[in-house]
Amino acid sequence: MIGRLNHVAIAVPDLEAASAQYRDTLGAKVNPPQDEPDHGVTVVFIELPNTKIELLHPLGEGSPIAGFLEKNPSGGIHHVCYEVEDILAARDKLKAAGARVLGDGEPKIGAHGKPVLFLHPKDFTGTLVELEEV
Ligand code: CO
Repeated sequence: MIGRLNHVAIAVPDLEAASAQYRDTLGAKVNPPQDEPDHGVTVVFIELPNTKIELLHPLGEGSPIAGFLEKNPSGGIHHVCYEVEDILAARDKLKAAGARVLGDGEPKIGAHGKPVLFLHPKDFTGTLVELEEV
């Protein structure tokens, strides 16, 4: 059911420092920061030949990654995103298998303008999983 790894998201305490490290030290193609007020994050996309890295930094009050950074002050892997062809079919199949979908269970428009859902990390080997319809 799942397809390509769309991105790995890393929460970072300093977006500029992390962007500079990927651009200057690792030599990756780093895009400008993008505010996502609906998701409470500022995002920097890094393009790799086979996937993307998504640097996440809290935006505004009550950001969903503020607590994560409190527990992981130097940053850390926050989620992985897999591509699916039909997000509602994927959701229904996973729910039937007992997986918990976060939020109200309805897809939201994600940072790439496509519908996304998040699955509870306790149901997926301790990893927060994002599904993105492509
Ligand atoms: Co993501």
